[in-house]
Amino acid sequence: METTQQNYLRDLMKGRRSIRKYRTDHKISKEELTRMIEEASSAPSSANLQPWRVVVVESEEGKAKLRPLVMFNTLQNDTSSAMLLIFADTQHYKQSDYIFNKAVEEGKMPAEVRDQQLGAINAHYPQLPADKLNEVLKIDSAFFAMQLMLTAKAYGYDTNPIGGFEADRLAEAFDLDPERYSPVVILSLGQADETGYESVRLTPEQITFWR
Ligand SMILES: Cc1cc2nc3c(=O)[nH]c(=O)nc-3n(C[C@H](O)[C@H](O)[C@H](O)COP(=O)(O)O)c2cc1C
Repeated sequence: METTQQNYLRDLMKGRRSIRKYRTDHKISKEELTRMIEEASSAPSSANLQPWRVVVVESEEGKAKLRPLVMFNTLQNDTSSAMLLIFADTQHYKQSDYIFNKAVEEGKMPAEVRDQQLGAINAHYPQLPADKLNEVLKIDSAFFAMQLMLTAKAYGYDTNPIGGFEADRLAEAFDLDPERYSPVVILSLGQADETGYESVRLTPEQITFWR
C-alpha cells in the first residue's frame, strides 16, 4: 500500500525539472540555504567520509567571476539566487578522526568499531591512486548533489545540475587549492521563472537486467 510519504517523495522526484531561468527579485537567505545543505548532508558516502564541499556563489562579484567559466550556462548564473559549486575534497580522510570520535561520543558507535574503521581508512585512502580516489569521491558527491536538488524542491525552489563549466579553472577562481579540491557539478538554485521542459525517461524494461 502506498503511504503519504511515498506519494510525497514521488511528487518531489517527478516534479523536479531543470530550471534555467529564475526570478531575480528573490534571494534565498543564508539560514535557509544552510538548512538545505545540512539536510542534504544526510546522503550516504563511502566509509561515511562525506567528501562533498560547497562554494555558495551569490554575490555580484562572485557571479561575475563565475560567468566566463560556465560556458553556455550564463542564464542560470545571471538569474539564480545562488550557484552552488560542488567539489570533492581529495583529503576528505583527514576528517575521519572527527567523524568517528563524534560517533563514539554520541553513542552511535562502539569505540572498538571506530578503531577498526579508522585503521582501515588510514591504510586505504591515502594510498589510493588519484583516479580511483576521484571515482569514489564523485559517486559520493553526486549522491549529495541529488539530495540537495530534492531538498531544494521540498523548500519550493528549483535547480539545474550543470556539467558545462571550465573544470580546470573552477577551484582556483574561488580560492581553493586545485590540487586538493576536485569539481563535481554546479547546481543553480532559485525561484523558477519558467516551467522547464518535460523530458522522456527510458522504461524499467530498457534499463533493468533480471538474473
Ligand atoms: C551531470 C549533469 C550535467 C548537466 N549539465 C548541464 C548543463 O551544462 N547545462 C544545462 O542546461 N543542463 C545540464 N544538465 C541538465 C540535463 O540536461 C537535464 O537534467 C536532463 O535533460 C533531464 O531533464 P530534467 O533535469 O528537467 O529532468 C545536466 C545534468 C546532469 C545530471
